[in-house]
Amino acid sequence: MRPLYQHVAAELAQRITEGVYAPGARLPGVRSVARQRGVSVATVVAAYRRLEDDGHIEARARSGFYVRARRAIHAIEPECEVAASPPRLVTGQEMAMALIKAANDPGIVQLGAAVPDPDYLPTLAVARAMARVARLQRTRAAGYMMPPGAPELRRQIARRMSESGGGISADDIVITTGCQEALSLALRAVTQLGDVVAVESPAFYGLLHVLESLGLEALEIPSHPHEGMALDALAFAFERWPVKACVVVPNFSNPLGFCMPDTHKRALIGLLAKHGVPLIEDDVYGDLGFDHRRPSTCMGLAPDADIIHCSSFSKTLAPGLRIGWVAAGRHRERIEYLKYVSSIASPTVPQLAVAELLESGRYERYLREVRGKYASAVARMGDAVMKYFPEGTRVSQPQGGFVLWVELPGKIDSFELARHALKQGISIAPGPLFSASGKFRNFIRLSCARVWDERLERALITLAGLVQVR
Ligand SMILES: Cc1ncc(COP(=O)(O)O)c(C=O)c1O
Repeated sequence: MRPLYQHVAAELAQRITEGVYAPGARLPGVRSVARQRGVSVATVVAAYRRLEDDGHIEARARSGFYVRARRAIHAIEPECEVAASPPRLVTGQEMAMALIKAANDPGIVQLGAAVPDPDYLPTLAVARAMARVARLQRTRAAGYMMPPGAPELRRQIARRMSESGGGISADDIVITTGCQEALSLALRAVTQLGDVVAVESPAFYGLLHVLESLGLEALEIPSHPHEGMALDALAFAFERWPVKACVVVPNFSNPLGFCMPDTHKRALIGLLAKHGVPLIEDDVYGDLGFDHRRPSTCMGLAPDADIIHCSSFSKTLAPGLRIGWVAAGRHRERIEYLKYVSSIASPTVPQLAVAELLESGRYERYLREVRGKYASAVARMGDAVMKYFPEGTRVSQPQGGFVLWVELPGKIDSFELARHALKQGISIAPGPLFSASGKFRNFIRLSCARVWDERLERALITLAGLVQVR
C-alpha cells in the first residue's frame, strides 16, 4: 500500500496538471491542507517535498511552495523600435470578416477568433440566471434599460472595480453592448474625424476596425513583449504628431498576453498627462490572470487622471450576453448620450442576469476555476507549437488571457497560410490583422480556449505541415 503522503502528493500533482494550481501560483499553506484533508502536517510536508523532487513545485524562502513555471521555450524576445511608423488609416477588413464568419462554423477548428469554447464558460449558471430574472422581473425585463444601465449591475461593477483601487461609484459606470461598443463610445467622446490615436503594435484588430469606422488614424507604437507600449517611442511620437488619444490593453494584452507592471502603468499615465492626452484602457482580460492575482487598472492607480476604462463579460461569462461597460471619468455625460444615440440601450435581461451572477459570488467562484484552466490550455498549446512547428518558431509567454502570439521562421506569409489553413478547416488569425500598416507578416495568433482533443492536435499538426511547405 502507498504511504499516505504519496496519495496527497499524487492528488496535488493532478490538480497542478489540470491547471487548478497554475504555473507561478502559491500552493495553500501546509497547515490548511492538513486541516482540510484531516492528515498530519508532517504528511503534507512530505507530500510537498515529493512534489518538489518531482519538479512540480519549488520552495521559496519564508514564502511557501509555488507551482514551477513550465520549461522555458523559445520566447518572443523584446525587440522594440523606438520610431513609430506614421499614423495611417486602417485597411484589410476582408480577412477579419472571413475570420469572424468562420467563428460561427462548427465544421472549422477555431484557432482564430479569441472566443472561448462553451466548455470554458459557465453556460448553465448564465442560463439559469437569465431564466430567473426573466421570470421574476417579467415586466421590467420587457422594457428598455435606459443609459446608464441597470443600477444593480452598475453597483456590482463599481464594487469589483473599487477592489483594484480608485473608489469607483455606480454613477461612474455606463453599461454598453460589449467592450467593442465601449471602445467606440470612448473614442467618439474624445476624438473627431481625422484625429490621430496612439495604439499598441501589435494591437487587437477589433480596435483597429473601430478606428477605421470612425475615420481615425492609427499611430502604431511598438509594444514590448513583457512591459507593453514603449514609452520612449510614445514620447517621440508626441513630438511629431498631434495625438488625441491613446488606447492600451495593459492587463493580458491581446495578442501578446503581458501584464504591464505598475511602474510602467504609472509612467504611461504620467507621460499622457504631461501631453494632455486621454488614456483609453481596455481591461477585457483583466480577470483572467494565471497567478489568480487581480492586476491593478490604470484607473485604479490614478483616479484623478483623464482615463476612460472599458471592459466586458465577453471573455468570462459569455460573449453572447453582449454586456460591457465604460467607467467614463470626466466624460460620463457625453458617453451616456453617445450610448443612447448608438443603440438606445443594451438588452435588459442580460444586464439583470449578470448583476445576479456577480452579487451571488458565482462569478468569483467561476473565475477561480477557469484561470487555471486557461493557464494549462495556453501552456499545452505553446508546447504543441514548439513540438510540431519548424525550428526557429517562437511563441509569446502570456501571463493571462488565452491567446498565443507565434512568430514563424523565415519569410512565411501568414495571410497565405491562413487562406490555406481555412481550406483545410482550420481558422487562424494572421499577424497583419494586428497592424494598421501590414506588419507582422510572419506572425499568427492562436486562440487556446479550446478543449484539447485529437481533432485539435491533428489541426496543429496540419498547420505545422503548411508552415513547413511555405
Ligand atoms: C482586447 C479586446 N478588446 C475588446 C474586445 C471585444 O469585446 P466584446 O466582445 O465584449 O465586444 C475583444 C474581443 O476579442 C478583445 O480581445
